[in-house]
Amino acid sequence: MAKRIGILTAGGDCPGLNAAIRGVAKTAMMRYGMEVIGFNQGYRGLINGDYQTLTEDSVSNILTLGGTILGTSREKPFKNRELGEQDKVEKLKSRYKELDLDCLVCLGGNGTMKTAYKLTKEGLNVIGLPKTIDNDVYGTDVTFGFDSAVTIATDAIDRLHTTASSHNRVMVIEVMGHDAGWIALHSGVAGGGDVILIPEIPYSIDKIIQHLKDRFENGKKSAIVVVGEGIDRPENLSAAKYIADSIESLSGIETRQTRLGYVQRGGSPTAFDRVLATQYGAFAAELIADGAYNNMVALCDNKLTAVPLSKVKSKLSLVTADHHLVDKAKGVGVCFGD
Ligand code: F6P
Repeated sequence: MAKRIGILTAGGDCPGLNAAIRGVAKTAMMRYGMEVIGFNQGYRGLINGDYQTLTEDSVSNILTLGGTILGTSREKPFKNRELGEQDKVEKLKSRYKELDLDCLVCLGGNGTMKTAYKLTKEGLNVIGLPKTIDNDVYGTDVTFGFDSAVTIATDAIDRLHTTASSHNRVMVIEVMGHDAGWIALHSGVAGGGDVILIPEIPYSIDKIIQHLKDRFENGKKSAIVVVGEGIDRPENLSAAKYIADSIESLSGIETRQTRLGYVQRGGSPTAFDRVLATQYGAFAAELIADGAYNNMVALCDNKLTAVPLSKVKSKLSLVTADHHLVDKAKGVGVCFGD
């Protein structure tokens, strides 16, 4: 008998979600004759029974579209369970049963994978797809959304170079990433940042000032500082403001700050993310057809792989101080403040 599956997108959105929805749904419908429904607004749609039936038509022409046609939310059904709030999980389980689902496909980041794992413990069949601009999901080399965010951040850095050199300024740009420095590291290297600060590597302001002073004394007239939003800083200040103010007051060099913000999550996915998300989606449908439930789809050493959700849970993938890209960036003169 043909299987019936549900798809949802949860957590912060990112480019590539629609490409992944399309990848799962088209493969499930066209190759395996499955029925597919899409829950609206993440886990909230599953709790409330708010869903739409997906057809080949409804998932056509969405490959290049940013955001998610299903909507998303940061609903965490298990959050208050310890406090006695049982009904969200119970509701969600009975919806799954009522709708006669064989599997739930959850597209999301760490929080979503943690919930997905907990749902497997409640007896649901689940497949996870790792998405986030932050690239911090454990168990995969890359998440979709990351390449698009890095491309947007790199374009912004390119633009800051020209205005920085016209005015002989230091330009500080803050990028997203939460506690992970992947976006700052990759866009910093791609954009030719002179200083890159990431949450995983403790920095000293003095070392940054010395680096910038040496640079200007050596005849350079501007500099780019790329900072991850999660770096160590006073609680009431953004990373960009804290670093820019510190540089200007301690070095005397005119400094400006830019916080790139949600632009990094918007718009059309890059070709890389379209390809990655399509493959993740199609592979998810194959796993469901094989009954290989309770896995997260991953790319490891360039191979599509199924990683048990029990291994992923909510573990983070962070940059390590000895990561090869950190080493190579240092080789070309980038200062990490350490
Ligand atoms: O996880 C993706 C992300 O964009 C982070 O980089 C950022 O810190 C956070 O989400 C912002 O979350 P929200 O959408 O809840 O404001």
